Amino acid sequence: MDATLKALFDAADHAAQKAYAPYSNFSVGAAIRTASGHILSGCNVENAAYPAGTCAEAGAIAAMIAAGETKISDIAIVGVKSNPCYPCGACRQRIFEFSDAATRVHLRDGATGEAITHSIDALLPHAFGPRDLA
Ligand code: THU
Repeated sequence: MDATLKALFDAADHAAQKAYAPYSNFSVGAAIRTASGHILSGCNVENAAYPAGTCAEAGAIAAMIAAGETKISDIAIVGVKSNPCYPCGACRQRIFEFSDAATRVHLRDGATGEAITHSIDALLPHAFGPRDLA
């Protein structure tokens, strides 16, 4: 894995260590590299009222938007307990909103530690998105 991608996984790992996941004990971290090269990360934040919990990807996207950026170049998603940690359906939709055909979604192969990389189109084919409302 090249140094740029390793830095993204490092940011995702760091965020995952901060996750608040006392109910599932399943900590997740996500890190986005924006089109301009900034890295923004997030972790899952659970809640005693379970549906109020949020995913790591949602946190990373919120950080990206708060930083004034809207284009995901790459996103790395890691679980602490189990990898690969594929994004849930709702998070695939969240990622799609800020993606283009070149956006890459990186998971970690739990056996080798290497990256598994997909396009968002592969993860969410025939997506409904901003263009449908244009
Ligand atoms: N989780 C994420 O943070 N991202 C995903 O894409 C999959 C699931 C979190 C939500 C919940 O806190 C825990 O993992 C178990 O589902």
